[in-house]
Amino acid sequence: MSSAGDLRSSSATLAPPAPEVFETVSPSRERGPYIPHIVAWNLTKRCNLACAHCYISAGSWHAADDELSTDQCLRILDEILDVNPNPMLILTGGEPLLRDDLEVIAERASAGGATVVVGTNGTRLTDERIDSLLAAGVKGVAVSIDSLRPEYHDRFRHGGGALKDTMAAVERCSAHGLDFVIQTTVTTGNRHEIADLARWSAEAGAVSFNVYFVVPTGRAEHMQGMSPEENDEVLRELVELEGTYRGRMMVRSKCQPQIMRHVLQGDPESPMLNYQTRCPCGVHYVRITPEGKVTPCPYMPVVAGDLLTQSFQEIWESSPVLADLRSGELGGRCGRCSQ
Ligand SMILES: C[S@@+](CC[C@H](N)C(=O)[O-])C[C@H]1O[C@@H](n2cnc3c(N)ncnc32)[C@H](O)[C@@H]1O
Ligand code: SF4
Ligand code: SF4
Repeated sequence: MSSAGDLRSSSATLAPPAPEVFETVSPSRERGPYIPHIVAWNLTKRCNLACAHCYISAGSWHAADDELSTDQCLRILDEILDVNPNPMLILTGGEPLLRDDLEVIAERASAGGATVVVGTNGTRLTDERIDSLLAAGVKGVAVSIDSLRPEYHDRFRHGGGALKDTMAAVERCSAHGLDFVIQTTVTTGNRHEIADLARWSAEAGAVSFNVYFVVPTGRAEHMQGMSPEENDEVLRELVELEGTYRGRMMVRSKCQPQIMRHVLQGDPESPMLNYQTRCPCGVHYVRITPEGKVTPCPYMPVVAGDLLTQSFQEIWESSPVLADLRSGELGGRCGRCSQ
């Protein structure tokens, strides 16, 4: 059985971008050879919910026929492990629990040396499913809770009763000893709840409370985001919350490197200063789509290669898209920033 302590110590530094990552790798940007430390795999677009912001536009109307088969997944998995025998593999979706072969894939990956975590909306995490995930070597789950108010969460996620079901699943994870993180996507409608969500997560026993900021892609393409001031206020609050829960639960923001300004100003002792801020996509990190395309990250639609016609190694080593992401020095204001 894993524990929060195990998961923390098995993971190291960088605050990663992927929606479901716990904490991983690499204190500095590598110059090569490049290693895919984190692979996020959207196994399906099928989902029992249909959230307003979903970057992959998941829903119940998608067909399983469009997804990689079990055999194709296992072949790709072996190819990933050939390139890096110990990646962090994030099995996500859509709702990955809708794939009956999730445990088959997870088991092969963990037996091969990967640290396997599963990103889920939690509504289908029954006692039996938790046991089978644990038996397949899954080290933890990332469960999405966007509000403690059903009227917000259920509406945002387009699922009546979703919050109640997900909270019950979190209790079951705790009872079974399956590590979990709570992930919240922050918007104007729930930003005032961040401290309450962090407290709830800590009391529930979460390893980490991860806050995501809406990336305008998929169904979120035309979503009204927070103002820069609101965004900045949330980041400042997260730095405070990180200090409050330090040693008990991690508190992290994703894809918001500008949080470092608040860390430097408000908490110069923060362990967050050890994390790499630069986006690792294409350098340490890639995403696989349900159809087998490789993209630099889950939010980036640009295709680096196709696993139906190329091997993972070929794409990782030869893709011009990935080469481009690895080569450039930052320009503009980012290039001038001393942090
Ligand atoms: C795509 S979901 C897949 C796993 C699972 N269905 C779930 O909801 O947790 C993974 C995570 O991405 C977040 N997410 C989805 N669309 C997003 C977007 N446009 N911007 C930021 N986060 C997003 C979700 O809230 C969730 O925490
Ligand atoms: S965010 Fe997750 S739960 Fe919501 S529609 Fe997308 S895949 Fe489904
Ligand atoms: S490209 Fe943007 S969204 Fe993707 S991992 Fe990097 S910072 Fe995050």
